[in-house]
Amino acid sequence: MKKRLGILTSGGDAPGMNAAIRAIVRTAIHKGYEIIGIRHGYKGLINGDIIFLNHTSVANIIQRGGTILGTTRCDEFETERGMRKAKGVMEKHKIDCIIAIGGDGTMRGAKEFSERFGVKIIGLPGTIDNDLYGTDFTIGFDTAVNNALEAIDRIRDTASSLERVFFIEVMGRFSGFISLAVGLAGGAEDVIYPETPTNIREIAQTIKDNIKKGKRSNIIIVAEGDEAGNALRIAQKVKKLTGEDFRVAVLGYIQRGGTPTANDRILASKLGYSAVEAYQQGKFGIMVGEVNGRITYTPLEQTYSIKKPVEDYIYKLIKILSG
Ligand code: F6P
Repeated sequence: MKKRLGILTSGGDAPGMNAAIRAIVRTAIHKGYEIIGIRHGYKGLINGDIIFLNHTSVANIIQRGGTILGTTRCDEFETERGMRKAKGVMEKHKIDCIIAIGGDGTMRGAKEFSERFGVKIIGLPGTIDNDLYGTDFTIGFDTAVNNALEAIDRIRDTASSLERVFFIEVMGRFSGFISLAVGLAGGAEDVIYPETPTNIREIAQTIKDNIKKGKRSNIIIVAEGDEAGNALRIAQKVKKLTGEDFRVAVLGYIQRGGTPTANDRILASKLGYSAVEAYQQGKFGIMVGEVNGRITYTPLEQTYSIKKPVEDYIYKLIKILSG
């Protein structure tokens, strides 16, 4: 009898998840396995919401954002009862191993499930936040950065025409990867992100100095999870010190949608293929990632318990180059 794999996407969707699904399905079939899609993440695993996948079910999806399987954030899966039901569904449908694509919550769920119930599970990093240890990039990060960048470039036009200060809030929950990447690529005047303490006085001084130097616009990128508050609160605090009028733009969910970039499709294809290879080689309880161009296998727990460091020198570059 053919071995059967299950695949699910969980947590916030990320562009490139579909490319990963396609790669997993086609590789699994190529290697002689059966493959089942579990809809709506861990919730679907608990409720037995499954569909059989074949070659054509994943046709024409490599270029589509979101996830054809749907996704949820599922509290029930954090309970013993929820996991027991999920295990029952795996047994009923003879699913030998689950490949779970998602972010830190997904990896946490995968680790608990595999440890408490002895199930085979392999993680794939799919989140725009890029905050998983064990991979240089997560699927979806590159697209989110490019989406945000497009918006920032547009805002630069209006900011410099009216000589305004803009505070632009980007996603990334409690990590600064998106904010630093768009800050550097978008020529931002400053970036405020959770990994470093925020100094409102310094930001105000930067803006005042820039205006004195004759800069026509000031764009300050704010990561949504900064301890000093959201973009509006920070802008209000800065205004008290500069007296400068400001505008705020919260980019929000537009960052998460749309066509995945080539980089995300390539990463998703490589990791999807490698996840099935990992299964074949008996590697479980790990997340498949890519570090320095090489496929890596990191124990699930490490992916979220070890803090992946942001590159501080990026911030240094942003400050020097926007000076
Ligand atoms: O984890 C991805 C992410 O988009 C974060 O950047 C953001 O903070 C969060 O999801 C938003 O969560 P939700 O989709 O539940 O509103």
